[in-house]
Amino acid sequence: MMDAPTRRSIAERFPSLGQRAHARWKLAFDPAYAATRGVLANSHLPVLDIGCGLGLLAHFLHATGHRPSYIGVDHDARKIEAGRQAADRAGMDGWVQLHHADAAALPPHDGNVVLLDILHYLPRERQRDLLATAMLHLAEHGTLIIRNVLREPNWRFHATRIEEFFLKYSGWIPVGAQHYPSLEEIREPLERHGLRVAVRALHGRTPYNSYLIVASR
Ligand SMILES: C[S@@+](CC[C@H](N)C(=O)[O-])C[C@H]1O[C@@H](n2cnc3c(N)ncnc32)[C@H](O)[C@@H]1O
Repeated sequence: MMDAPTRRSIAERFPSLGQRAHARWKLAFDPAYAATRGVLANSHLPVLDIGCGLGLLAHFLHATGHRPSYIGVDHDARKIEAGRQAADRAGMDGWVQLHHADAAALPPHDGNVVLLDILHYLPRERQRDLLATAMLHLAEHGTLIIRNVLREPNWRFHATRIEEFFLKYSGWIPVGAQHYPSLEEIREPLERHGLRVAVRALHGRTPYNSYLIVASR
């Protein structure tokens, strides 16, 4: 995890109070960015972050000294605008590009691909399409990193559904969850395309049913 002054200085780059609080919370309690950083540690390939939100992963990578070029894509215009302002303030504008676009309209890319907590906001068929597109954007030696809630009969899954209810009705993610994937729904298409898949629980200090799924050739 990142030290408190660094977390604070990243959060202060965002324009609204809510975004700053969100950034502080995510950087303090969610292990997704550190786990992604760990997987990417030995790679210098560019990063495509699909459903990047505010682009917090870029700030985490930058602050921890991992600086391959980074492209973030999100269909929420407010988050992308706030992310651009924050990247400018941090002097990361040459290294980070943030695109306002749907996950179905990705810019050209050949490198590592990251999907942190986006799949379940798409219907089942679109999740399959997005996994296929993500694989097309993966370089020969690239890695696909997915962090997502999985549909499982346990209390963490129910806690995640409650959180998603609040995320939707607070307006933070207005589209709301569409389909919670099972592990097999994610793993099967990746393995069918010849990727090796490793899976581990990744909830850190959150009550949510989150997993890290790492796929490479
Ligand atoms: C829970 S947030 C995760 C943000 C970021 N990946 C992170 O971990 O900090 C999910 C993001 O996916 C984005 N999203 C959902 N559906 C999308 C789509 N069809 N195209 C692009 N972005 C999408 C939302 O706008 C939101 O910012």
